[in-house]
Amino acid sequence: ARAQIGVTGLAVMGRNLARNFARHGYTVAVHNRSYAKTESLIADHGTDGDFIPSESMKDFVASLAQPRKVVIMVKAGGPTDAVIQELIPLLDEGDIVIDAGNAHFPDTRRREAELKEHGLHFVGTGVSGGEEGALNGPSIMPGGSKESYEWLGPILEDISAKVDGVPCCTYVGSDGAGHFVKMVHNGIEYADMQLIAEAYDLLKQGLGASAKEIGEIFAEWNKGDLESFLIEITADVLQHVDAETGSAFVDIILDRAEQKGTGRWTVQNALDLGVPITGIAEATFARALSGSVPQRTAANGVLEAHAGTWEVTDREAFIEDVRLALYASKVVAYSQGFDQIAAASEEFGWDIDRGAMARIWRGGCIIRARFLNRITEAYERDANLPLLLADEYFVSAVGHGVSAWRRIVAQAALNGVPTPAFASSLSYYDGVRADRLPANLIQAQRDFFGAHTYQRTDKAGVFHTEWSLDRSESTES
Ligand code: 6PG
Repeated sequence: ARAQIGVTGLAVMGRNLARNFARHGYTVAVHNRSYAKTESLIADHGTDGDFIPSESMKDFVASLAQPRKVVIMVKAGGPTDAVIQELIPLLDEGDIVIDAGNAHFPDTRRREAELKEHGLHFVGTGVSGGEEGALNGPSIMPGGSKESYEWLGPILEDISAKVDGVPCCTYVGSDGAGHFVKMVHNGIEYADMQLIAEAYDLLKQGLGASAKEIGEIFAEWNKGDLESFLIEITADVLQHVDAETGSAFVDIILDRAEQKGTGRWTVQNALDLGVPITGIAEATFARALSGSVPQRTAANGVLEAHAGTWEVTDREAFIEDVRLALYASKVVAYSQGFDQIAAASEEFGWDIDRGAMARIWRGGCIIRARFLNRITEAYERDANLPLLLADEYFVSAVGHGVSAWRRIVAQAALNGVPTPAFASSLSYYDGVRADRLPANLIQAQRDFFGAHTYQRTDKAGVFHTEWSLDRSESTES
């Protein structure tokens, strides 16, 4: 037994992770349900490093040095459980099973508890960066026992992306913490993508600009505060021409966004925790709306618009307004996502270091961006920051763009252009900073119809008002 790490499940993500380990000098045990995939990995990339291929799970496990480290890279859900059940009888106390897929964190908590009973470590880890990241350096978010990280951490840090020499991998927290953080990463990814899509639409509707022209604007934006992987690829995608028709590539793509579930999980969990992640939620619902074909068909050409015709007079000023509104909305989405991490960390006892999460998202992952440095710095100033938006840097960075943000959201509404993420983020911003919200009236209504009680501004305690039948106040208790 001499492999330092093993990978079972050699579809593209598993295969690329295995190659990444091998390229970093590790001897990698490899296994796949059908041996043909294992053989093709060796045939195509055997020269990447030292692989030990096995046809059976038993031989695969036997080829690993103890404590064994087995990375499972199969489909989330049933297939992951099946592989775990197959592994349990073959492993020994202290061995480490790593699930590097996009598992739902409650499943990870369940599996961790079960494997612990067998004396095994279970590490649910987020891995972001797609196929390219898996091969050349992803962002890695491992959960599980601290002890398992002592064995596994150095290897994962080795193969992760590096920013200024710092690995984009750190211990996140116990049991489901790693997969939780990956889930929120994906929720933020949904928000980022939706905000970019809205900015594209605003530029298209406001300026009547072509995809190519908008692509050039995004390329320009990528030189400033918005610099990020998603802005960069947006610039490229928008400038891409469809070979078959010669039209802009985006213009021939059907406008129905799909999703595999991580955004939905993020929103479901936010509802459970009571954390308002309106940017991520609107982004998730915007995908759902785009796919609501019967509703869209029923409404299209039928619902009245009473909208103006958008005439932008100052092109450059408008582009700058959209850029500022995009940046501000993006900060809101991150601020909300970090609130959700804080709430879950409290709920599940994970003790997650939010600054460290921003640090390991700076490279390798889909949401990698220059601005994550600013988030890391904000949590360095105050590890218990109650609201990212209220950090001194973001107060001024967002504050600088608020007028532009208002102009864009207002003009979009007047001209009938939907901006669910831009608009809800601005509403959140105004809500969270408000002196007084109309929730007082909600409380009064609840007390009126259901005796749900309320608190007062002038004295402490819990109160209920008895309302007489003519609905005037009768007695107070
Ligand atoms: C990543 C990505 C990855 C996945 C997306 C797609 O971090 O590398 O997030 O996990 O490709 O989540 O998700 P949807 O299909 O739901 O858009």
